[in-house]
Amino acid sequence: MKPEVQPNKIVVLSGAGLSAESGLPTFRDANGLWNNFSLEEVATPQGWAANPEAVLAFYNERRLSAYQAAPNAAHQAIAALDAAYDVVIITQNVDGLHERAGSRNVIHLHGQLAWARGTSPLPKRYRIDAAPVSLGQLCEDGTQLRPNVVWFGEDVQHMDEARQHVASAARVLVVGTSLSVFPAASLVKAARGRAQKVINSLAMKRVPFGFTFLPGKATSIVPALVQTWLEQAR
Ligand code: APR
Repeated sequence: MKPEVQPNKIVVLSGAGLSAESGLPTFRDANGLWNNFSLEEVATPQGWAANPEAVLAFYNERRLSAYQAAPNAAHQAIAALDAAYDVVIITQNVDGLHERAGSRNVIHLHGQLAWARGTSPLPKRYRIDAAPVSLGQLCEDGTQLRPNVVWFGEDVQHMDEARQHVASAARVLVVGTSLSVFPAASLVKAARGRAQKVINSLAMKRVPFGFTFLPGKATSIVPALVQTWLEQAR
């Protein structure tokens, strides 16, 4: 059963490209993380089992970089939409920059660097901001602490809720994602025919059906689009 489209609802689906101009690396661009690290070694349960210290070091460095980064004009423009629209942000990013720009309604599909969790089936989560996690550092249930980030092969969080939000949006903005990782990428299919659908990125192998592609840097494309949407709300 598809939900009603809410005229005042905007959903933003964001990826690493949104934070590129905050100085944080993407994954698949020229100097992306997966060109410099083996994702099998640092972002899978198998990598964790084989060498947890390498995984902890990888995320400790990313957590510190994210904490030292600042939201950019695109994050801030997206946060400004809250003043006139019912905005839901569905992000693949783990850097926390949407919240730091002031966005209030953020759904994290892939977890958050600023949190750590235990390794039991029902783990406890701890806010650690930029603090490193070391081998031997235990959760209160006695299990090893790990990054509160979703690895390849692990369940992505909040997908049903995210799909419902996309299906009920009158406007969908996809920004800074190659749409190459599922199930997150499948969310574009939930966007309704009658919704205004826009995707901003530097390049897209394939533009999702029904979406208008706006090529360019997020810090120039997104503020201009937001300005138009804010004027339409008046
Ligand atoms: N402005 C707009 N878009 C940009 C910019 C920029 N300044 N810089 C890069 N991009 C675009 C690229 O063109 C590309 O389409 O951002 C996208 C980045 O794609 P990826 O590196 O694949 O990042 P993402 O789509 O977020 O990856 C999804 O893969 O490894 C997993 O969990 C990880 O959440 C991540 C997921």
